[in-house]
Amino acid sequence: MSKKRVFLIVLDSCGIGEMPDAALFGDHDCHTLKRISGSPAFRFESMKKMGVGNIDGQDYLPGEPEPQAAVCRIAERSMGKDTTIGHWEIAGVVSPSPLPTYPNGFPPEVLEEFERLTGRGVLCNLPYSGTDVIRDYGEEHMKTGKLIVYTSADSVFQIAAHEEVVPLEELYDCCRKARGMLTGKHAVGRVIARPFVGEPGNFRRTSNRHDFSLEPPKKTLLDALKEEGKTVYAIGKINDIFAGQGVTDKVYTHGNTEGMELTLGALDRDFEGLCFTNLVDFDMLYGHRQDVDGYAAAFAEFDRWLPSFTEKMREDDVLFITADHGCDPGDSHTDHSREHIPLVVYGNNIAPVNLGTRRGFCDIAATIAEYLGIGYRGDGASFLSQIRRPDGTEKALCRAAFEAMGKAYCPYSGYAVGAAVITDSGKIYSGCNIESATHTPTVCAERTAVFKAISEGERGFKAIAVCGGKGGRIEGRFPPCGVCRQVMAEFFKPDTPVLLMTGEESFERYTFADLLPLSITPGRR
Ligand code: THU
Repeated sequence: MSKKRVFLIVLDSCGIGEMPDAALFGDHDCHTLKRISGSPAFRFESMKKMGVGNIDGQDYLPGEPEPQAAVCRIAERSMGKDTTIGHWEIAGVVSPSPLPTYPNGFPPEVLEEFERLTGRGVLCNLPYSGTDVIRDYGEEHMKTGKLIVYTSADSVFQIAAHEEVVPLEELYDCCRKARGMLTGKHAVGRVIARPFVGEPGNFRRTSNRHDFSLEPPKKTLLDALKEEGKTVYAIGKINDIFAGQGVTDKVYTHGNTEGMELTLGALDRDFEGLCFTNLVDFDMLYGHRQDVDGYAAAFAEFDRWLPSFTEKMREDDVLFITADHGCDPGDSHTDHSREHIPLVVYGNNIAPVNLGTRRGFCDIAATIAEYLGIGYRGDGASFLSQIRRPDGTEKALCRAAFEAMGKAYCPYSGYAVGAAVITDSGKIYSGCNIESATHTPTVCAERTAVFKAISEGERGFKAIAVCGGKGGRIEGRFPPCGVCRQVMAEFFKPDTPVLLMTGEESFERYTFADLLPLSITPGRR
């Protein structure tokens, strides 16, 4: 069996239109993708073929009559619009409240505790630009040894210190102490060490910056995959966003180009599991800096790169392309924007279905988990059954059901019905309906198939397919009757797939629980 791999790429901040509650987040008229689509640098060829122009609300883009991918737009359930919360939700965890921000600096109780733990005083305590803050406070810091503490519009506690005044190890230690105390209502997303060197008037930040992230509050898809022995390969800032939790392999990048190269390279690695990439330039270099053309050019670079990736994908690889929030480079502020995110799901095993508008990035995690064969669903629900192409077993089951339908004995009703089950032993049993002139002894196709299997000693079932119709023609699905559902309850599990055929080779996927919720079953009487 081939190893299943999912490649999940986050185009950081590439939102596709404001959410209904955007005003609560201070956003009006934000639409990142639409904004950059107006730039001459914009390119929309590969993404057009995928079907991005068919997504709800993207009517300014050309549609695609024969898209290659399943697509939808997704609203965020978490009450936030930052990178951390967005990625956590993609990985299965909804955050009911936003990470705290400090537009007026940190409250006295936080700073007093920090001073007590570190034994150093504090300067600044305001939202500040990283270069301005060392220009304005660097000299005083050198004289007094006090730490420069500042924040931004994001949920960050940043500590700047001169490498010759506060040795790096001590600075990192101060960060660890801050990380340890910033919990509960002060659980900021990141504590960041910002070391610098040089003399007054000529300070420079060094590459020894280090982030101390907040750990996800609950188990994520990454943790679940790691627990099951799968690979979780983090490219770019993914490792930091999850504070390393659930990551088995990691590599940092210097921007989108390198991130795309490494993701392409990951196709050649032999692994089973998830390759999770964040492309940060969209947000960091162009979104926050209100650079519409730069953003559009970065999108064009991705669009140009995409075919080189999809060409090399293996049979069971699936690619998910999405975003974590918006950051409209042309709206009224430099901050993120509360937007829907796009989702593109592409692969040999994926049908190009348009899923419309959904709610909860966490459904991405649930879907990936199901595809990779693990039980984790997090806060989400899997939509895999809506986008997965029929596999060999499903096709065989449908063939068997259709063949059985041809053998129906139905002189009274004229409805021919066929069913086929596959058992835990891997055998397929099929059956047709058998009518009686006195009606009551009539047996349905599903029961015929199930009883044939049971009387051969089988007890466990993996799936059932059913088809039927007047005069032996399938004209839409033919769902099992109540009596058959109760018989199924005896042997099926709630998640046993039920394929309701809509044609000789087409079907809709349901689970047994969809057909008979709250059933009286042997285990749950
Ligand atoms: N029938 C089935 O075979 N399966 C069902 O679940 C629904 C009904 C058959 C019984 C009868 O021969 C005919 O369809 C019309 O009700």
